[in-house]
Amino acid sequence: ELLEQLEELESVFHVSADQLKAVTKHFISELNKGLSKEGGNIPMIPGWVVDYPTGKESGDYLAIDLGGTNLRVVLVKLGGDRTFDTTQSKYKIPEGMRTTQDPDELFGFIADSLKEFVEEIFPEGVSKPLPLGFTFSFPASQSKINSGVLQRWTKGFDIPNVEGHDVVPMLQKQLEARKIPINVVALINDTTGTLVASLYTDADAKMGVIFGTGINGAYYENVADIPKLEGKLADDIPKDSPMAINCEYGSFDNEHVVLPRNKYDIKIDEDSPRPGQQAFEKMSSGYYLGELVRLALIDLHDKGFILKGQDMTKLNTPYIMDTSYPARIEEDPFENLEDTDALLQKDLGISTTVQERKLIRRLCELVGIRAARLAVCGIAAIFQKRGYKSGHAACDGSVYKLYPGFQQHAAEALRDIFDWTPAPIDQYPIILSPSEDGSGAGAAIIAAVTEKRLAAGK
Ligand code: BG6
Ligand code: GLC
Repeated sequence: ELLEQLEELESVFHVSADQLKAVTKHFISELNKGLSKEGGNIPMIPGWVVDYPTGKESGDYLAIDLGGTNLRVVLVKLGGDRTFDTTQSKYKIPEGMRTTQDPDELFGFIADSLKEFVEEIFPEGVSKPLPLGFTFSFPASQSKINSGVLQRWTKGFDIPNVEGHDVVPMLQKQLEARKIPINVVALINDTTGTLVASLYTDADAKMGVIFGTGINGAYYENVADIPKLEGKLADDIPKDSPMAINCEYGSFDNEHVVLPRNKYDIKIDEDSPRPGQQAFEKMSSGYYLGELVRLALIDLHDKGFILKGQDMTKLNTPYIMDTSYPARIEEDPFENLEDTDALLQKDLGISTTVQERKLIRRLCELVGIRAARLAVCGIAAIFQKRGYKSGHAACDGSVYKLYPGFQQHAAEALRDIFDWTPAPIDQYPIILSPSEDGSGAGAAIIAAVTEKRLAAGK
């Protein structure tokens, strides 16, 4: 019986090489649609970063980073020689903050964290306002570099009266209320930050990619190849300039044309605060992996196959299993999965048989492998679209860094898509390379590049 269930799980989470190729093909046309005048489902947001970093940018910058697991405040010292140093503090986003009813609470929390950080680093105060790069990792439309109108919340954030508004003045208001001498110079996406920070040190970086709570990528497009910018370019931006694009491709295939969705994907979507949105992200990013596992376990329990007679109260709580659960279960070194046993007993109050634990572990693997395989289709699509035969996709995020086997499975999926001959993953033409403190340094470099541009009166 359990074996049959396992076979079914294997089949609903399997993604073949041919499916990956089909997903990538559709992805390319959707990316192009997003750049067109009519627009499409993938926002393809111009980030108004119209220079490549030279590596010579220098100075001290503050950066904040909101949208991943933690709020980070960073002081970045750009060395001017392709090196940088960072000092950072992480602040846990308080329980409930993602869905608070009062946006001032969120921006006030960011301002408080900044104040604490600045007072610690500069106890004697500062002589002139500090320039700040604000990494805001949500889809925000930008008409210039220091503004960003939130299109919609993603990753479980759901705070009223922010969608449709520029978030920079919301933050600036809270900074002023606390008399913190800071100027928000640039608003950036974490993927754009990762791209720019990586280019500062790695000339082969073609994309900045996040595999974390959410999933997304950024790359440089030619302004001339962005039809929707026609007539919207300020005079100071030459027609042959590059333009960083924050793709926001977590929203790929919201129409459900090509992604192999199963009943658990459908349930996640239906129960989310934003049904119908972020279809690709909901199948492949960290915010959802534990939840997919949980939904499959509940399903098997409800059908009477596993966890008979167990108290399901905790397991019935949505999102009780974050991504660290499947990660820890896959890392369990014991033949009989004793670590998993302890974890499930302690955190979820359920006792399992060895057979059940083996099934749970395989389920975690299936969910993780599928995420890795689908996740790289965005990268394959951009490389193919731009005609890049090789190069680095600079990656960051908890799933990339911490999820067991993710990097291996992701590289193998790229191999499947491009029909490469099997090789060690660091020898493939496209390499998923670790980014050098993506968004903190990226925000600083972008702030520096922007200041230089403005000073030059360009
Ligand atoms: C961090 C980056 O390392 O990864 C952030 O600095 C990014 O900018 C984050 O948002 C994404 O990962 P996660 O797993 O925290 O969502
Ligand atoms: C979500 C956000 C996007 C971000 C990504 C990774 O997809 O909408 O802006 O880049 O998560 O953090």
